[in-house]
Amino acid sequence: MSDDVRWSWDDEDGPARLRRAIDERGHALVTAPGLWAEAERDPWGVARRLWGRGVVLVEAHPIVPVAHGRSFASTQGPTPLHSDSQSHRGVPPRVQVMLCARPAATGGQTLLLDTWTLLQRMAEQEPALWHALTTRVRRIPFVFGDVVGPTVALRGGSVVFTHSPMAVDDEVGRRLAWWIERAPRIELRAEAGDVLVVDNHRMLHGRRAFEDSRRRFLRLLVWTREPAVPPSWVVDAVTAVRERLARMQRRASPEQQEALVGAAGTSSEIEERLQVVLELLRGGSPGVLAQRHGVPEPELHRWRSAVVRGAVEALEGLPSEGEHRSMLERLRRALERKLG
Ligand SMILES: [Fe+2]
Repeated sequence: MSDDVRWSWDDEDGPARLRRAIDERGHALVTAPGLWAEAERDPWGVARRLWGRGVVLVEAHPIVPVAHGRSFASTQGPTPLHSDSQSHRGVPPRVQVMLCARPAATGGQTLLLDTWTLLQRMAEQEPALWHALTTRVRRIPFVFGDVVGPTVALRGGSVVFTHSPMAVDDEVGRRLAWWIERAPRIELRAEAGDVLVVDNHRMLHGRRAFEDSRRRFLRLLVWTREPAVPPSWVVDAVTAVRERLARMQRRASPEQQEALVGAAGTSSEIEERLQVVLELLRGGSPGVLAQRHGVPEPELHRWRSAVVRGAVEALEGLPSEGEHRSMLERLRRALERKLG
């Protein structure tokens, strides 16, 4: 059967089929009635059911219209194409999972744009813009804060396309908006029980306006170990820039490093401990986690105390918001002069 259409979820071959669809097309639409209710109780468990191994972090957010909502997720208006770029250790979530509990009576369709196809055409027809996307260090504003770095960049080993739903009034932003307006988009409508999975490093997503205050989705943002791997000519371009950034940044602070290219890698043992503590702090059961990871419960609590101790130290030394913004702006200008 073709994977092009909505297919029924099956725990046995589902994760492999899902990864295949994500690798080939950047998205998948499956029907799995009741999975949204399970995800409300156990988002980590559902992320693992869908993706299999290699889930690093899961965040769950109800997507319902609320009065005076500030983010696009909480309103009924149209949402321009964008990436979800809130980061964990400098890397945005690899996949966005939208579980539909109740679609809108009218409107609310999801729009997707494949940036790999967009970049291919841009490299042929406007190579200067393609070059600028990988080398111009931009300040890209989001509701959660600014992302600083090239638009297409290697972050934590994955090739990531960053694009805000807000208009960015710089030279690259204006040309990019022209291209995005004219690019072909995929339009999908999720029904109750459907699950839409989108590669958030590769695809931009948006939404048509809707009229129905009862529309309800649950969104999981899932950070995974596997990177998004586009065609080799894209990887080569961003890798070359990443190496130049790394050379220039030898004296940059860990905060600056993380903002631009992702936090420095650490051992898989430390990664696993951090992952267990994050799940514990988000309401994961200590007993279940102890059993799953083969670690005695007192040891889990010792890890949690260490993470909280480190967090207190980091918060005490955190620069003010103003200092942080001016530090990023200075860094952006310095890198812009050297990379441009
Ligand atoms: Fe989004």
